[in-house]
Amino acid sequence: MTIAMPLQISVLSQDNCYLLYPGVDEDVETAMTRNLDPTEGPLTTRPTAADRARELLDPARCRGLITHAAGYLQTAGIDIPATQGFGQQLMRTRFYAGIYQLGRPLGMRVASALQAPGQDEDRARTARSLRLHTGQTVLDIACGPGNFTGTYGQVVGPDGLAIGLDASHPMLARAVADNPGQAVAYLSGDAENLPFRDEVADAVSCLAALYLINEPFRAIEEMARVLKPGGRIVLLTSLAPGGRRDRPHVAVMEKLSTVHMFGRDEITDLLRGLGFTEIEQVTAGLAQTITATKS
Ligand SMILES: C[S@@+](CC[C@H](N)C(=O)[O-])C[C@H]1O[C@@H](n2cnc3c(N)ncnc32)[C@H](O)[C@@H]1O
Repeated sequence: MTIAMPLQISVLSQDNCYLLYPGVDEDVETAMTRNLDPTEGPLTTRPTAADRARELLDPARCRGLITHAAGYLQTAGIDIPATQGFGQQLMRTRFYAGIYQLGRPLGMRVASALQAPGQDEDRARTARSLRLHTGQTVLDIACGPGNFTGTYGQVVGPDGLAIGLDASHPMLARAVADNPGQAVAYLSGDAENLPFRDEVADAVSCLAALYLINEPFRAIEEMARVLKPGGRIVLLTSLAPGGRRDRPHVAVMEKLSTVHMFGRDEITDLLRGLGFTEIEQVTAGLAQTITATKS
C-alpha cells in the first residue's frame, strides 16, 4: 500500500507500540519493518487518548495503526467490510455524515413511535444504562459521527477512555471534528472483527447500527469478547413489526430498506447464551434497546 501523505504509523508488538513516520509515498510495509527500535524513532511520551487506545489493540488482530490526516486512527490488517446495500452505502458518504446528527432525533422518534427521548436525554440515559463512571474504558461500536462517544468521554473524564469505532471514513472525520475530547479516540474498523484484546472494556455500546452490519450476531459476539466480566452492554437496533420476523412483509421491508429487522428474542437469546445476566429489553415501535451485564 502506498501512502500519499505524511503519516504517523504505530507498530504493535506483544510488549510495545512504536511510532514511525514514513516519508511521503513511502510504502507502509517498508516503514513498518524499517524501524522497529523505539530508540531510533520519534517515540511520543504524551499519553493521549489515541496512545492509550493503542494499548488495547491485539497485535494478532491488528498489525498497526496509521493516523489519518483527518485525525482518526486506521487499523492495518483489518479490512473495512464491503457495503451490501443502500443504507450502508449512504453511511459512507460525506453528505450523509454531514447531516446525520441533525436527522437522527427525528429518525429515532419515527422508528420508536414517538417514544424516543430527546438527544441530550438519550445520551445521558445511555451513559446511565452503561453505568459509566470516571476512569472507565468504553467502546462505542459503529459510532458514526461520535454523537455518543463524545458524551462518554465527558463522563469517564481524562483518566478514562472512550473509543469510537466505525467503518465509514466520512463518519469518522465528522466524529473527530464534532465530538472530540481529551479522553476520546476514533478508530476505523469492522464491528465483526474488532481489533481489541479480550476483556479490555468496562462498557460497550452499539447504537442504531446492528441492522446495517452484515453479520450482526458475530458483531455481538465480538463485543462480548472485548467486554470485561461485570461490564455493561447497550444495544439499540430494529425490531420486526410485532417482534416477529416470520411474516412475509418483513422480508419485503428488509429488501426495500436494506435494513435487517430483528425478531423479539433473537438478540436477548444470544446474550443469554453468551452468559450475560441482567438482560433488559425495552421495545418501542420498530426499535428495541437491550441492556445486559457480562457475567
Ligand atoms: C446510523 S449510524 C449510527 C451512529 C451512532 N451509533 C448513533 O447511534 O447515532 C450506523 C453506523 O454503523 C456503521 N457501520 C455499519 N457497518 C459497520 C461495521 N461492520 N463496522 C463498523 N461500523 C459499521 C456505519 O458506518 C454508520 O456510521
